[in-house]
Amino acid sequence: MADDERPGAAQWVPAGAGIDQLAKAARDCQGCELYRDAIQTVFSKGSPTARVVFVGEQPGDQEDRQGAPFVGPAGRLLDRALEEVGISPNDCYVTNAVKHFRFERASSGSRRIHKTPEVAHIEACRPWLDAELAILDPEVIVILGATAGRALIGPSFRVTKQRGTAIPVPGDDDEDAARKLGFMVPTVHPSAVLRADNQDQAFEAFVRDLKVAAALLS
Ligand code: URA
Ligand code: SF4
Repeated sequence: MADDERPGAAQWVPAGAGIDQLAKAARDCQGCELYRDAIQTVFSKGSPTARVVFVGEQPGDQEDRQGAPFVGPAGRLLDRALEEVGISPNDCYVTNAVKHFRFERASSGSRRIHKTPEVAHIEACRPWLDAELAILDPEVIVILGATAGRALIGPSFRVTKQRGTAIPVPGDDDEDAARKLGFMVPTVHPSAVLRADNQDQAFEAFVRDLKVAAALLS
């Protein structure tokens, strides 16, 4: 498949599947070219009945090696922040907008350097996220950074403007509205906290946003 041919994941997504079956099917996805250089598909972790769903960007180097999301440095920071706001890992389902690690090789050798996914990758991978969200029924979806915001809110999303706010999940019809679809709470990506000049301040601001999510839990 040439780099500019991205059929998207739809043909790999089984109809009527549960999360486990989706995760299994995603191992074979070739919906965009990212499957070729990564070690494996990184699907999700956590319970399908979770009250809080976290959507990140894409797996990193550690996640690609271990096959689970948020198990590297960004994941450790997220875990620390969750503990601070009192959200139990048992109440969480964690996934990414893009399910394969996109990277480039350092010129010096083997180190794999994260490369931000393009809009085309987000769109190619979206059928997986859509299928997950059709099964999950969380009270809150936490959007971790610009890529997840682009996937869930669209091109108008601006993390600096919308972080820490509770945005009602839009429904398709009145029935959806009556069902109460819950809220989305955007915040920065935990990697941005790790990169910040003032890490303590950035961590505090991240925790503040997550408190908005925690307060929405009934
Ligand atoms: N960053 C992400 O967005 N997702 C992961 O799973 C790890 C790091
Ligand atoms: Fe499929 Fe998504 Fe991986 Fe692309 S990134 S191959 S669409 S799972």
